Amino acid sequence: MARRACQAKHASLQRVPRPPCPRPGGFGPATVCNPQPDHISGVNLCPHSNGPAPIPTHTVQTAGEETIMSSSKPRTIALILGIAVVLAIAIQFAPTPVSRINPPVQAEPQWDSPATREMFYRACGDCHSNQTSWPWYSRVAPVSWLIASDVAEGRQRLNVSEWNRPQRGADEAAEVVAEGEMPLPIYLIMHPDARLSTAERQALALGLQASFAK
Ligand code: HEC
Repeated sequence: MARRACQAKHASLQRVPRPPCPRPGGFGPATVCNPQPDHISGVNLCPHSNGPAPIPTHTVQTAGEETIMSSSKPRTIALILGIAVVLAIAIQFAPTPVSRINPPVQAEPQWDSPATREMFYRACGDCHSNQTSWPWYSRVAPVSWLIASDVAEGRQRLNVSEWNRPQRGADEAAEVVAEGEMPLPIYLIMHPDARLSTAERQALALGLQASFAK
């Protein structure tokens, strides 16, 4: 009778997700069946009974194996992501090869029309003048390095803010526009408004020819 009472009690304990298991041999009389908080699964919950040991709902070992097996892949991904984040942050402190400064405007060309000037600033001004607008992503490495070097190089060839000194690219400006070489295709990804229609390209090419020939 006592054995049954104990088994009945353990049967009810089995229903809880992680039944507390008694220490083997830690029992007094058969009627005393007080599960210990220490969790040792897989042992016969009622060792004094002759019946088969109840099947444990789960064992510590299985849970451990599951943990290792299922977490190794996410752990690798987490590690790679972690390294990527650390690198992404680290490069922010690397010195930018060229600075993001807008030197003062010294002299502008004599534009043949306000329309030419407007179109030039819309499609070319960020890289060929000292009036560059630096977007937020121009401060995020490694994009910042690309943008800063494009602006530095662009200004070197043609800078409408320093028309007081000879501009190497002036003669070619109309040509590169007519041929669609400029604005740089990479620039158009983030500046769709700088895209020129065929008519605009022709108009700008003519306008630049007239303005820069002076
Ligand atoms: C994203 C920046 C950027 C924009 C926008 C841009 N350029 Fe350039 N431009 C450059 C760079 C960088 C160079 C030098 C490298 C090269 O020639 O590709 C250059 C070179 C030039 C040259 C000299 C070409 C040569 O062969 O030496 C001319 C002229 C020129 N650009 C005109 C323009 C005109 C006109 C526009 C607008 C329609 C424009 N660019 C828009 C960056 C830009």
